[in-house]
Amino acid sequence: MISVAVIDDDPTTLKMMARILGNEGYEVHTFAEGMSFLMAIKHDSFDMVFLDLQLPDVNGIEILDLIKTDHSDTEVIIVTGHGSIANAVEATKKGAFHYLSKPCRKDDICLMAERAADKIQLRRENTLLKTDVGDDELLPGFIGKSKPMLAIFETIRKVAQVNCNVLLEAETGTGKQLTARAVHELGSRRDAPFVYFNCGGFTEELICSELFGHEKGAYTDAGSCKAGLFETAARGTVLLDEIGEMPLSMQVKLLHVLQERQILRVGGTVPIDLNIRIIAATNRDLKEMIRENKFREDLYYRLNVVTIRLPKLAERLEDLPLLVRHFINKANRGFDKKINTISPEALDILMHYHFPGNVRELENIIQHASALTEGQKLTVADLPGWLRKMHHPNSFNEDFLPLDEMEKRYISRVLKKTNHNIKAAGKILQIPRTTLWRRMKKYKLSGQD
Ligand SMILES: Nc1ncnc2c1ncn2[C@@H]1O[C@H](COP(=O)(O)OP(=O)(O)OP(=O)(O)O)[C@@H](O)[C@H]1O
Ligand SMILES: [Mg+2]
Repeated sequence: MISVAVIDDDPTTLKMMARILGNEGYEVHTFAEGMSFLMAIKHDSFDMVFLDLQLPDVNGIEILDLIKTDHSDTEVIIVTGHGSIANAVEATKKGAFHYLSKPCRKDDICLMAERAADKIQLRRENTLLKTDVGDDELLPGFIGKSKPMLAIFETIRKVAQVNCNVLLEAETGTGKQLTARAVHELGSRRDAPFVYFNCGGFTEELICSELFGHEKGAYTDAGSCKAGLFETAARGTVLLDEIGEMPLSMQVKLLHVLQERQILRVGGTVPIDLNIRIIAATNRDLKEMIRENKFREDLYYRLNVVTIRLPKLAERLEDLPLLVRHFINKANRGFDKKINTISPEALDILMHYHFPGNVRELENIIQHASALTEGQKLTVADLPGWLRKMHHPNSFNEDFLPLDEMEKRYISRVLKKTNHNIKAAGKILQIPRTTLWRRMKKYKLSGQD
């Protein structure tokens, strides 16, 4: 939401502006005197100000100076009567965004507000990208300020203090491994090992040998004895990834171990005490697997003393700009680059994508873009082709273009010809400047006054 203050001593203008801007979706505050605005701005701030230069009580230019000193991000649009254009021009030199001459037309007011709003929006996005990433790392390497993520961080912090098993149920690429590590690092086991084991694709025999270890001669090719991961991880944490892929017969053995809190190496006779925290992770729906008799219910309840369900990236898009910045910084370090921002158009494409591969997919996209870009800014051109196409599915038959596409291409041609000078382009196209601005905004074309 963008907040707008309108300062004008003429009640009719004030009312009209408030109505027009309110209808456009801005949060409008009106002030009939300069003084009341100056009082308000002591404790409030506005994104945009429409300022009448000729106020009876305070000099408009003084108000402008004050805004630009104390609220430099506020965009000021000067509203001025006939005959005082020179003052308005002077005001733009002092940092005003632009000026409107009275009587103001609805279209001009809307357009001016829209252009200032674009600038404000852009600044918001860029500020976001520039602030120190450290601020957003609630846990090391872990980014997120959205409500669901704050709740997850809270759970991780609590769980880390308690010595219980944890089940992580979430889609691929949502940060299960990162979460498991955080639980380990924040708890009392942090100085002991963190051991990872992927249960997918192994036979029961292999899993047993890996997790429990084996004695010499336990298998025909077991020439020496070997400690299993559960032993290696003593006093630490074991992450059993893809637990849903564990064969049923192995699930029974794991359950037994968890109940007894002791293991026997394969071929061994001396029980070894188990002192580990088990974190199990899966992107499958274990409850559903239980119904289909593919996962043991008793094991499920052993593992899920606490269950953490991580949100999909698409459910926490407000974290996306922070993650983008995080991955840009990571890519800068890896590729020795100095990328410092992303264009609003490129960010917009990302914000509209559904990310089936979640955070990992975003990381890959940013890595790809960072590797290819030659400048300090990631742009649409740096994004993978399939993503750009998805956003602009412009596979037209070139002989029969849709009217919009035709108009876009023609305006773009005229703009190129006039060096993006809007006044000159408007003359060729024989449409008012305001109409041209609208079209350019619609088609995302750039130009200058
Ligand atoms: N909140 C986050 N902040 C920063 N990076 C994240 C976050 N979540 C995930 N990542 C990054 O995304 C990538 C995928 O995360 P991770 O490996 O933890 O996901 P996963 O859920 O285990 O995925 P899979 O199910 O495919 O194994 C990693 O590079 C990780 O660092
Ligand atoms: Mg993983």
